[in-house]
Formats: sequence, structure tokens, C-alpha cells
Amino acid sequence: KLHPVIMAGGNGSRLWPLSRVLYPKQFLALNGESTMLQETIERLNGLACDAPVVISNEAHRFVVAEQLNQINSLSNNIILEPVGRNTAPAIALAALVAKQKQEAQGSDDDPLLLVLAADHVIKDISAFQTAIKQAIPLAEKDYLVTFGIVPSYPETGYGYIKRAAAIEDEGYSQTNSDVREISWKVDGFVEKPDRETAEKYLNSGEYYWNSGMFLFKASRYLAELQTFRPDIYHACREAVEKIDPDLDFIRVNEAIFSRCPDESVDYAVMEKTRHAAVVPLDANWSDVGSWSSLWDISEKTAQGNVLHGDVISHDSNNSYVFAEQGLVSLVGVDDLVVVQTKDATLVARKDRVQDIKKVVEQIKRDG
Ligand code: GDD
Ligand code: MG
Repeated sequence: KLHPVIMAGGNGSRLWPLSRVLYPKQFLALNGESTMLQETIERLNGLACDAPVVISNEAHRFVVAEQLNQINSLSNNIILEPVGRNTAPAIALAALVAKQKQEAQGSDDDPLLLVLAADHVIKDISAFQTAIKQAIPLAEKDYLVTFGIVPSYPETGYGYIKRAAAIEDEGYSQTNSDVREISWKVDGFVEKPDRETAEKYLNSGEYYWNSGMFLFKASRYLAELQTFRPDIYHACREAVEKIDPDLDFIRVNEAIFSRCPDESVDYAVMEKTRHAAVVPLDANWSDVGSWSSLWDISEKTAQGNVLHGDVISHDSNNSYVFAEQGLVSLVGVDDLVVVQTKDATLVARKDRVQDIKKVVEQIKRDG
């Protein structure tokens, strides 16, 4: 049985001003009725899974609990980090808590962690579930399984996975609806390469983008982390040992966890491990990392505009407009992102939205 772990502790600063420190994008409904966190959980319907565990920041505990309650997902499975230390520690905490739970139940099963980001959009849910089913026998054979997207442009914000030989998996029984792809061993993983390298990878045709989702045994991940980043491993172990079992939330010890190094799973483990595999994922995936990618995946008017709220557009094309309060109007401008909220307004060229991070940094500096 799968043990889903949903990472929901990022701050999504490239979607400012809608995504804020107090309310990052995974808690917003950017693409429908449900929030991204809720969609992440609902996307699992039909797979045999434990109740999903959500790991997020202490500051967001009530948002997370409420959003889980709204979709009748158990809310006693929330792990809270007192401070964000990125994804390598977050996954380690979830792995340790999962193992602890198994032991408390007197079982020595090794939970299969399905690690998911809370802020992705995946349109083809059945292809997503097929890829997961394909990954299960590989994870059981001790692979750290990644889900690879065929790259379409030299994105520098993603990890790149180089495929090696095909993996023969006898264990998988194909059902009618499951269109299955070949799984591959991995020759190398490079997180966030520079532009030139990304272009080289793209042109070689041998690389996938890392989708940022993983499937592996808890013990396998912890063993790799212990090998490559014993500092992170030990800090997380200690922080979990001090958890008070009587509380509603699973609260990680602050004094210990604050001393844990900050690192993503991609740098800490995936770049270094020799046990990775990649299952191709062709499911209309998007990480909605920016306003332009949100525009990309949204339904557009005949003029190519995505309009939310009270918006009047005249002779304007290919723009993303969000009006939270009052009316926003465009006249004769193209390729813009305009996001108006009650206390901040963004106007940006659509091809410059990666730089919104800079604005957020300045806001932080200036207080
Ligand atoms: N609990 C917790 N704690 N979650 C976190 C933390 C943390 O400290 N930091 C980030 N997250 C969550 C985010 O909310 C998101 O859901 C997920 O972990 C991934 O973090 P990002 O910060 O969005 O990573 P990224 O987009 O730069 O890169 C990752 O995803 C790419 C695909 O979207 C990497 O795995 C790349 O290799 C990958 O290509
Ligand atoms: Mg991301």
C-alpha cells in the first residue's frame, strides 16, 4: 500500500502578489474549484493508499487542517516543521514518522513513500496513476523512482534526468486501460543546470525533466540520506525522537530541527544516488512555477486572454489578468500579467515573470 507524502511547505514567491508568505500557492485555487493541495489529494482517488500525510510549515497548520477537512481527508496526519529546511529534511521527517508508526503497530513493513508536491497541475489523472502503478515494483526492488517529463524547452528551474538502460519489469501486469511506457535506469541527475547545459540536455534527447515526485521505500531513502548527508539524517532523527505523541499535529522539535542544514532532495540525494530509476510521465503535467505557466495551462478567450474577476479587456491579447477587488481594464496592450489584490498590484511583461522573485526579495529586505 502506498503511503502518500505531500510536501506543502514552499512559499511560491514567483506567483506574487497572489501567493504570499502567509498564503502560498499550494493553498490557492488557481485552476479550478479545489485548491492545489486538495487537487493533489483528490488525484489519488482510486489508488490503494494510506491517508495522505501532509508536511508543511507550522504557520500554515490551520489552513492545511481546514483544507483537508473540506475534502474529508484525515487531518491528524499533518507534520509541522517549525522552520523550513527544504525538501531533503522534509522527506526524511515523513519517512521517519512513517517508520515510527509502523513500528508502533508492531509491523516491520517498509512504507512505500509516494512523495508529491502540493503545487502541481496534472490534467491526465489516469496517465498519472498508470505511471505510479508502473513505479511500484521498481520501488519494491529498491529503486528511488523519479517521474520524467519529456522536456520541451531549456528550463533552468528543473532537474534533468539522464536515462540509461531499460529496466525489464516482469512484475507488472498490464490491464486494458493502462498504456505503459518503458522504465529506465538513471545515468545521472543534474538539478537546475545553467542555460547552456540545459540546451545541451534538451538537444541530446536523452534527458527527462524531473517532475519533482518520487516513489521509494522509506528505509531506502533514509539509507541514501545517511550515506550522502549524514548531517541532515541525524538532525532529522533526533528531531523526530522528541515528538510529543499526544498532540493533534505531529510537531517536530524546534531547537533540534533549526540546526538541520537546508537542502533539497534533488541536491542531497538524487544527484548522488546510484539507485535511481525513471518512469516516463506523459500526463499534461505543469508545476505552475510562474504566471506565464499558469497562463499556458489555463483556458483562454478568443483573444488568448485568461481573465479572473471583474475584468474588461479591449483590443488586448495573450494576457493574464486577475482582479481580486474592483474592476481591472486593459486597452490595447498585449502579453501582460496584471494581478491586482487588495494591497498590491503587479504589472509585468509575460516573458519577464521569472524576475518577480526579485520584487519579493526586495519586499523582504525593506520589511
Ligand atoms: N514541507 C516542506 N518543507 N515542503 C517544502 C519545503 C520545505 O522546507 N520547501 C519546498 N517544499 C515543497 C514545495 O511546496 C513544493 O510543493 C515542493 O516541496 C518542491 O519544492 P520547490 O521549491 O517548488 O522545488 P522546485 O520547483 O524549485 O524544484 C523541484 O521541482 C521541480 C519540478 O517542479 C525539483 O525537484 C526539481 O528537480 C523539479 O524539476
Ligand atoms: Mg516547484
